Amino acid sequence: MASDLLARAREYEETYGGQVTAAERPVYHVTPTVGWLNDPNGFSWYGGKYHLFYQYNPYSTQWDTMHWGHLVSEDLVKWERLPAAFAPDEPYDACGVFSGSAMTAPDGRHLIMYTGVGKREKEDKSTEIIQTQCIAYGDGTEYVKYEKNPVITPEMLPEGSSAVDFRDPKIWFEEEEGCYYTVMGSSTEKDGGTVVLFKSPDLVNWEYVSTLEKSRNDYGYMWECPDFFRIGGTDFLLVLPMKMQASGEEFHAGNNAAYMVGTYDKKSHTFARKGIFSLDYGIDFYATQSMVTPDGRRVMIVWMQTPEVNAGRPSGTRWFGQMTVVRELSERGGRLIQNPVRELEKYRKDPVFYKDRFVDGKVSLPDVSGRSVDLTVDVRPAGGDSYQKFTLRVAEKGGLYTSVTYDPAESILYFDRFRSGLRDYVISQTKAHVRYRDEEIRLRVLIDRFSVEVFVNDGEQTMTSTLYTPQEADGISFEAVGAALIDVEKYTIEV
Ligand code: FRU
Repeated sequence: MASDLLARAREYEETYGGQVTAAERPVYHVTPTVGWLNDPNGFSWYGGKYHLFYQYNPYSTQWDTMHWGHLVSEDLVKWERLPAAFAPDEPYDACGVFSGSAMTAPDGRHLIMYTGVGKREKEDKSTEIIQTQCIAYGDGTEYVKYEKNPVITPEMLPEGSSAVDFRDPKIWFEEEEGCYYTVMGSSTEKDGGTVVLFKSPDLVNWEYVSTLEKSRNDYGYMWECPDFFRIGGTDFLLVLPMKMQASGEEFHAGNNAAYMVGTYDKKSHTFARKGIFSLDYGIDFYATQSMVTPDGRRVMIVWMQTPEVNAGRPSGTRWFGQMTVVRELSERGGRLIQNPVRELEKYRKDPVFYKDRFVDGKVSLPDVSGRSVDLTVDVRPAGGDSYQKFTLRVAEKGGLYTSVTYDPAESILYFDRFRSGLRDYVISQTKAHVRYRDEEIRLRVLIDRFSVEVFVNDGEQTMTSTLYTPQEADGISFEAVGAALIDVEKYTIEV
């Protein structure tokens, strides 16, 4: 039986969700039924479908007391909306049902593990916010919170850990040992952000195992939404460092999405970090969550929004917050590689190809335009000397456009949505040092009504950003300073 709070959210969704027309939404990116969306949660395969939950406030397009929205899909591209799954209806989560993950329990039920945000009374009778880890079971539509929640409390953390910054459990089953593990983001005064590892034989009794890695105050005071997995022989630890200082060319100031590469020792439960890198070099990319598909692929979906920019939002919309496309993860040269999930190719229509097109100055190509597009451009020098610059513009009309510019001499890629029609002064330009210095570059660009995702050199690096350019701006153009040859492959995406 849904609680009053959940029933209220569902009624609200029924009344107002249906009023949001398809034309107001992206074509192939996830948005909330109505209201606000942030992190992906409970991304899992259950009952023959993919499930994706999300941090959700149905009642307004601003973040507020968190619920969980719910979607299901058969192919990770086309999503069907289900009624909200969780409301903040218990004392231990009355201030919010925060992020968490999901898996199938041994008895076949869908198990959810999440952070409950509640209040507790201190000795001096004042109240403080506390974050605990809770579980719930369900059948894929209706979920019941465990009667003995919470199952993990901050008292179980090493001394000096924060009770308020302790959240976002990512759970998995370790076959060889026959037990469950979860990682959570935490914070200590001494080291800043940390990832803590807990273990359980039965999902309800948990014990602290180790602290997998620490910020050592170099990478933010708190690490949100950790994810931990192995691809091939490499272990990847993903975190969201909060409020860090810009560092080198890799990280910008504020909240980042980072991944660490290293080796995990299963006996000592330690992680030896070999490197730490940015997960994305665009503007709107924050909370991540991954899962393994039934055919063994590690895939990830991401909240496509910087948590820091509230300006720059379109006015009068009935939803706010989008997810990236689902991305397939792989490992190459010790780095995490991201490419659009292959199922997206099923939705490609109207192919257009150009081969060895000479570009000297600015050109548009017949049939290459649109605001729901999967576009790949291969760029190389046309003769002896390399081009000096190559610019791809999308969502272009009149003076409006968003661009990606490659400078082969410096091996830098510039992203720019400065003239995308924004009416607030917000971050609009970023750059990435392309990892392999080369005169050739491959850009795969997914354009949707309100976003652009750039995959550089088959997923080596990505640049992700929202854009709210009027929909009539659907031009795509190519410009070379010095001559370039390009191959173009363009599809319309229809879902
Ligand atoms: C990350 C985050 C999580 C938290 C959730 C709350 O964006 O701050 O740490 O669980 O969002 O909505």
